[in-house]
Amino acid sequence: MAHFPFVHTDILGAEPLTEVLPYNVRIDEELDEVIATECRFAQPRASATAVEPIETQYVYRVTRPNVAILYKTCPPDPQRWDVLCLFVQPVDEDWCIAHTIMCYVDDINSDEQLRRFQQTIFGQDLMILINQVPKRLPLAASRENPVRADVLATAYRRWLRESDLHYGAIRG
Ligand SMILES: [Fe+2]
Repeated sequence: MAHFPFVHTDILGAEPLTEVLPYNVRIDEELDEVIATECRFAQPRASATAVEPIETQYVYRVTRPNVAILYKTCPPDPQRWDVLCLFVQPVDEDWCIAHTIMCYVDDINSDEQLRRFQQTIFGQDLMILINQVPKRLPLAASRENPVRADVLATAYRRWLRESDLHYGAIRG
């Protein structure tokens, strides 16, 4: 969430509302997944259906090392969630293809408009991701300077560190 105002400016966040409020992160031992709940962030345009700024609620699940499911407030029907799934397919240790499933309650936008909104967001992320150094994910605890906003990323890396995953990671 910390990147929202700076990478997705005036869509998923905007200065001066840059603070990531405390949220909960746990490892579900039975499902063996990372879950972050009670995430919330002030967003100028939370989704293609948003007609005004709202405080968007999120649940993030990392169900496998390369699979993430995001549940976020559905602006036209706050009792329900919009859901975005990311299935990341490594093509080698440095590069991957992200496949998505979008489940949005939206009777306003055409499929093309909805895709364009999401492609705008992913295009902004892509510029950051392809320039990230190092490309592989550092897992050594000594290489981290975690801050409160990063508790999900820290829990994710610890979960990976305790698994036997080496592919695409820097373990030393
Ligand atoms: Fe992003």
